[in-house]
Amino acid sequence: MRKVLIAPSILSADFNKLGEELKSIESAGAEYVHFDVMDGHFVPNISFGIPVLKSISHSHHMVNDVHLMIENPMKYIPEFIKAGADIVTFHYEALKDPEEIIDIVNFIHSQNKKAGISIKPKTDPRVLEKYLSMLDLVLVMSVEPGFGGQSFMDSALDKIRYYRSEIDKHSYQALIEVDGGINEETGRLCKEAGVDILVAGSYIFGSKDYQETIRKLR
Ligand code: DX5
Ligand code: ZN
Repeated sequence: MRKVLIAPSILSADFNKLGEELKSIESAGAEYVHFDVMDGHFVPNISFGIPVLKSISHSHHMVNDVHLMIENPMKYIPEFIKAGADIVTFHYEALKDPEEIIDIVNFIHSQNKKAGISIKPKTDPRVLEKYLSMLDLVLVMSVEPGFGGQSFMDSALDKIRYYRSEIDKHSYQALIEVDGGINEETGRLCKEAGVDILVAGSYIFGSKDYQETIRKLR
């Protein structure tokens, strides 16, 4: 079975002790910290933004995996990179014209950062086919973006299988990440489908022992 990387989503963390939470997931073995930015327009929720990323991005050695659920992502990407994003993932559905992808990805790469694109559950995965060669990450949403604690949508599995076959067929470098409703059971299904990175929020931060939970996910 493929060795997967674990990206705890801090949306479900206790913000009253965020520094401690980051230390805990890092010592529990998490390789990424998944940072869910929500603007209240692209998704019906508001989470956190640049000041929070700035204050935490250099306080650990995990990869700062920034998931932008925002309209007009290009307007804010430079600031998120300055605040410490290592991977910048924006939504296909937030673009007026898919061709914007090329300029946005080229900009992120010009800043020596990694570029990802995310698709919502209702979006056909083939819309990214012609861009896969230039991506570092493709994020398959297994819930409607906007909230933690939702149930996994099985439709994500075919998308993971599709990207797995495309990436392997062409030897692309893109990693496949899945996000939403991930627990031991759904994580296993995603691993079997070929995912590289599991994002988990409530399953990890809702548990007593982060190390044990991450071990079960892996
Ligand atoms: C949802 C976010 C997810 C969410 C995952 O819009 O993108 O990262 O926080 O939370 P769980 O793992 O609880 O579904
Ligand atoms: Zn996310």
